[in-house]
Amino acid sequence: MENNLIYPRHVAIIMDGNGRWAQKRLLPRKAGHAVGAETFRSTADYLNKNTGVEYLTVYAFSTENWSRPRDEVDEIMRLLRKYMDEACSSLLEKNVRLHFLGDLTIFPEDIRSEMDRLHALSEKTTGLHVNVAVNYGSRDEIVHAVRALAASGADMEHVTEEDITAHLYTAGQPDPDLIIRTGAEKRLSNFLLWQGSYAELYFTDVLWPDFSAKEIEAAMTWFRGRKRRFGNV
Ligand code: IPE
Ligand code: IPE
Ligand code: MG
Repeated sequence: MENNLIYPRHVAIIMDGNGRWAQKRLLPRKAGHAVGAETFRSTADYLNKNTGVEYLTVYAFSTENWSRPRDEVDEIMRLLRKYMDEACSSLLEKNVRLHFLGDLTIFPEDIRSEMDRLHALSEKTTGLHVNVAVNYGSRDEIVHAVRALAASGADMEHVTEEDITAHLYTAGQPDPDLIIRTGAEKRLSNFLLWQGSYAELYFTDVLWPDFSAKEIEAAMTWFRGRKRRFGNV
């Protein structure tokens, strides 16, 4: 990165609009997910190479998305496997750190061990942290954190905000400064409700497969114009 611009430290993205992108082209919804997976890759590359952003968290599959038609869910899982296979070889080369957020216990053993392997490989890299949220739901995450605290023998009557933060899937990472949602909807859909308490929210009508470096820069420019008060004046 060769500029002196201010960047959010942690950007989170709700990658929405794949289905509508495909439907507009009279293609099956799955075609939108395939192009969307490429958009994810190019966005991570761009942030890693051209900006001062340190963390990228993307919402890839929610705890509620299992209610979609079987063939659509199957296609998203196929893309996840494909992406993980390719990520393995390019992680070190691209110097990206990859983590998966969510209740990963639902995934078959081969996917989980691959997630662990990618996580371990990331110990060797020093670039952008990329969190992929899969089978992720913010409420589910908070319940999981509270249960983990109780199981650890914590004094539950005196649990603090820091205790909960330390047991979320994002433990050890800074809160998102900027949450971007593509695809025209203005809602969070159960994404980073705890961590996003003071995030700036940027909504764009652009459908995720059409999201580009130009859109990223537009969001960054908008972010620089915000006055973050955190409850102060
Ligand atoms: C986001 O795109 C990707 C996932 C939720 C997996 P959608 O599939 O929700 O696309 P739209 O909102 O139906 O256009
Ligand atoms: C949010 O998008 C989840 C992801 C982008 C993975 P949805 O398309 O599932 O959200 P709703 O249903 O419009 O709220
Ligand atoms: Mg959607």
